[in-house]
Formats: sequence, structure tokens, C-alpha cells
Amino acid sequence: MATAIIWDIILILQIELSRSAIGKAVQVLTNTMMLKIHLFFALGSVILYILMIITGRRLLAGDDDIRSKHKTLGWTTLVFRVLTFVTSFWAVAQKVQ
Ligand code: HEM
Repeated sequence: MATAIIWDIILILQIELSRSAIGKAVQVLTNTMMLKIHLFFALGSVILYILMIITGRRLLAGDDDIRSKHKTLGWTTLVFRVLTFVTSFWAVAQKVQ
């Protein structure tokens, strides 16, 4: 799980280094709605990964009360990550036009 999360975050770093994605992302006012929606899911995924690590570590430490939250957050993370991938095509389509 940790490998998957680290790999995914390295992918974001690679995109930033090759395309200055953060520089484009902070131009919030000029971005199209498509790119804004993509950014919402992309940033949400990173925040959710952090919450998964925090709640996952609590589970490993024996706090079973956190299990249902970890499970709900896990499914939410999956949905956000899939939607980040789907909306990434919109973000690229915007550049081509
Ligand atoms: C995106 C990342 C992750 C997702 C989608 C995810 C998802 C899940 C799900 C759906 C469960 C089953 C919950 C249940 O039915 O009771 C689970 C269990 C668990 N997760 Fe995660 N998890 C993630 C990351 C992590 C991380 C980073 C850790 C540790 C640091 C972790 C530790 C655990 C532990 C200890 C369990 C309980 C396993 C057991 O009952 O034997 N998870 N996780």
C-alpha cells in the first residue's frame, strides 16, 4: 500500500517537473472549469492519501474504533483517484485546443 501511495506521489512530482503543473494550477482565475474540476480531484486525492496513512497507522497501532472511518475514507480515496484519472483527459484536451 505504501509503495502504491509513494509511486503515485512520485508520478505527480514527475508531472510537475516536466510540465510545471503547479505553475499552471495556481493561475486559478484563468483556468478552465475542466482543469479546476481535475485539480479538485487531484488535490483531494493527495489529502485523502495523507488521511489514509494517518488512520491506517492508528489501525496498525490497535485502535479498532477508527476502522469504519478508514474504510469509508478508503472507498472515497479510490473514487477520487479514478476521477482524477478520468478528468486528466480534460486537462490535456484543454491544452490541445
Ligand atoms: C489509499 C490507501 C488505502 C486504502 C484504499 C485502504 C483501504 C482499506 C480497507 C477498505 C480496509 C478494510 C476495512 C474493513 O473492512 O474493516 C483496510 C484495512 C486496513 N488498512 Fe487500509 N487502506 C489504505 C491505506 C492504508 C495504510 C497506508 C495503512 C497503514 C499505514 C493501512 C492499514 C490498514 C490496516 C491495518 C487494516 C486492517 C486490516 C485487518 O483488519 O486485518 N491502510 N484498508
